[in-house]
Amino acid sequence: MSDPLRIAIAGLGNVGSGTAQLIQQNADLLGKRTGRTLKITSISARDKSKDRGFSTSGMNWFDDPVVMARDNDSDVLVELIGGEDGIAKEVCEEALKSGKHVVTANKALLAVNGESLVSLADSNNLILNYEAAVAGGIPIVKAIREGLAGNNINRIYGILNGTCNYILTEMRLQRRAFDDVLLEAQKLGYAEAEPSMDVDGIDTSQKLALLSSLAFGTKINFSAVYTEGIRRISLLDIDYAEELGFRIKLLGSAQRIGAGIEQRVYPCMVDQSFPIAHVDGAYNAVVVIGDFVGNTMFQGLGAGAGPTASAVVADLIDISHKRQAPTLGVTLNSLISTSEIEIGEHIGPYYVRLMVADRPGVIADITAAFRDENVSIESMIQRSRSTTEAVPVILNLHDCKESEIQRSLSKISTLNTVIEQPTMIRIETLS
Ligand SMILES: NC(=O)c1ccc[n+]([C@@H]2O[C@H](COP(=O)([O-])OP(=O)(O)OC[C@H]3O[C@@H](n4cnc5c(N)ncnc54)[C@H](OP(=O)(O)O)[C@@H]3O)[C@@H](O)[C@H]2O)c1
Repeated sequence: MSDPLRIAIAGLGNVGSGTAQLIQQNADLLGKRTGRTLKITSISARDKSKDRGFSTSGMNWFDDPVVMARDNDSDVLVELIGGEDGIAKEVCEEALKSGKHVVTANKALLAVNGESLVSLADSNNLILNYEAAVAGGIPIVKAIREGLAGNNINRIYGILNGTCNYILTEMRLQRRAFDDVLLEAQKLGYAEAEPSMDVDGIDTSQKLALLSSLAFGTKINFSAVYTEGIRRISLLDIDYAEELGFRIKLLGSAQRIGAGIEQRVYPCMVDQSFPIAHVDGAYNAVVVIGDFVGNTMFQGLGAGAGPTASAVVADLIDISHKRQAPTLGVTLNSLISTSEIEIGEHIGPYYVRLMVADRPGVIADITAAFRDENVSIESMIQRSRSTTEAVPVILNLHDCKESEIQRSLSKISTLNTVIEQPTMIRIETLS
């Protein structure tokens, strides 16, 4: 056997402990796969006294992970603390400056500081791996960077946040409101006490920014990702989606449009004839469309100690073999900047739900507002009749520009027969 690969782990929470458990439990297998021992030499977290569910015997404890990153006792530093800057960034930078390879699961850090860290790794001829940062256990970084490397990728889209997918699935299957399901998900530990990173779509957009750069060879442009979350999705819309042959999913999608890249994250209607419409619960799925390979779909658990540890250890195995593809799929100096495509320029079909007073002339006013903006209606559902309560009117709109829809809806919202703010959900055109 060759020399052991000496590993320092910064952060021993869900993922850090899971990674150590995997390395200990599958030690023989990892030895056979790498021809080396994967040896955890150093660990760091805040609380030394906590039981982490693995044996720490023979490991050096560091109160300060930055000091650990500088120490000579390891070849690779695994950053599993989290956060877009602060201690996580300092630990990664210090490790790279001290000649250590780095593995991280930290999408927030990479979405904002990815290029500077890649530059630091490249200039020191070191590997920076991050499989676990996108879609947890799904080996999507490796798939794009290596398995699909011969293709021009035209589009990539996916369900990238298990918490949101779990909430939307529970809402549909249990017929429960968003707030109810979120509360339960928090109790079960599926959602954070502060859920906005997940439910407001930020986590998905960080992952999409990384996937987009990898897929298209473009600079990471997190701030250009148009982002909406799932808080506004109601049971009523979930029911109508079913009736119309759709499922509502929080999708991240990046696509070449002319010379630009459109990057967007929002809940949308997905036709039930597409496999991704049936990816439920905490599962993630990513579809990559290449010019030669065609359509490929990858599915698996996007979070949790086991799936995430699986991805971290795959990165460590690559490092043990000294396998190194360009970190962002192409060399850093060949990454290109592309123009950002504003959401107002987006073209597609739309679902609109209006709550209206059931009075003569209401529909005529609504259709006139759409007509004035050249928006044409494909179909309309107006069912219950009540003189006292608001009734839903559901409209399916043909392909049009988002700015035209927005202008129509702002006019419609001023009609005194329209009782609530209109709900608009994009119908995603998939291939
Ligand atoms: N959880 C998932 O399913 C998942 C999936 C994909 C990617 N990720 C990413 O993986 C990373 C870790 O996530 P996690 O869920 O494992 O987080 P976590 O359970 O909150 O664990 C964070 C760890 O960092 C340690 N820590 C915090 N501040 C520290 C400091 N100043 N010095 C030393 N240690 C410090 C904590 O120590 P104590 O334990 O002593 O408090 C804890 O062990 C994040 O970047 C996350 O985005 C997570």
